[in-house]
Amino acid sequence: GTPRPPGLLAGGGSQGPANPAPEPKQVPELIRLKRDGSRLSEADIRGFVRAVVDGSAQAVQIGAMLMAIRLRGMDLEETTALTRALAESGQRLEWPEAWQGQLVDKHSTGGVGDKVSLVLAPALAACGCKVPMISGRGLGHTGGTLDKLESIPGFTVIQSPEQMQELLEQVGCCIVSQSEKLVPADGILYAARDVTATVDSLPLVTASILSKKAVEGLMALVVDVKFGGAAIFPSEVQARELAKTLVEVGAGLGLRVAAALTSMDTPLGRSVGHTLEVEEALLCMDGAGPPDLRDLVTRLG
Ligand code: URA
Repeated sequence: GTPRPPGLLAGGGSQGPANPAPEPKQVPELIRLKRDGSRLSEADIRGFVRAVVDGSAQAVQIGAMLMAIRLRGMDLEETTALTRALAESGQRLEWPEAWQGQLVDKHSTGGVGDKVSLVLAPALAACGCKVPMISGRGLGHTGGTLDKLESIPGFTVIQSPEQMQELLEQVGCCIVSQSEKLVPADGILYAARDVTATVDSLPLVTASILSKKAVEGLMALVVDVKFGGAAIFPSEVQARELAKTLVEVGAGLGLRVAAALTSMDTPLGRSVGHTLEVEEALLCMDGAGPPDLRDLVTRLG
């Protein structure tokens, strides 16, 4: 037979199978590893995300792991593995062949008064793009696009993949939520981060944003990375690091990502509050609206 390189045989003879798959680690063990500063393997990260989605991880365990990640960080490989595991917790969207080259999206790291998505998604659609945007809710002190949209009576942010395709066919864009089918693991971790002071974590922000975008079947993505008092990360240095990570992890997942660094020391536009922001977005689409909002929409577009 083919000679085997040395070192690849575990056991051998009648002592049992070679290289038996290691037992998956229990959630407390995974938390302990990260708490003590160890790297988590891809299998560890997948095991944790599986426990989150199948309900076997308790809320306290999810909170503890998020805090361990917030305090100890994750390297690029761990962040990529987490992003992939979150993305693969649901289904990947598939679009008609004819849309190749038209599928684009934008995501913001979040800021006060940031209603750019409400204007930019329809603007891109008007230019012939298809924008299958999976967005988020309020996180920390930053507002959520989904919460803003729900201030419109009757607006439904949960849409099936089939309904999304219909919307893209009819109007060219949609803004929807994570759901049981779409990145469910991000939905759970996102809500947990919001109440455990673990929002401002570079690997968690990166995995949260890119997992949603990885399932969208995009040709290109622009991320608006905010810094300043009205953003998740006050410091420009941290925001730059986040932008770099988003581009690098995105590339690892086969996503073309461009990042813009934008200052957020004051709220964007003149309005803050769900209903008021929707009103301001409508004004902007009508060709009016505050200049800072118009400029940012144009620049990201
Ligand atoms: N937007 C997201 O979707 N996730 C984050 O963690 C921050 C902004």
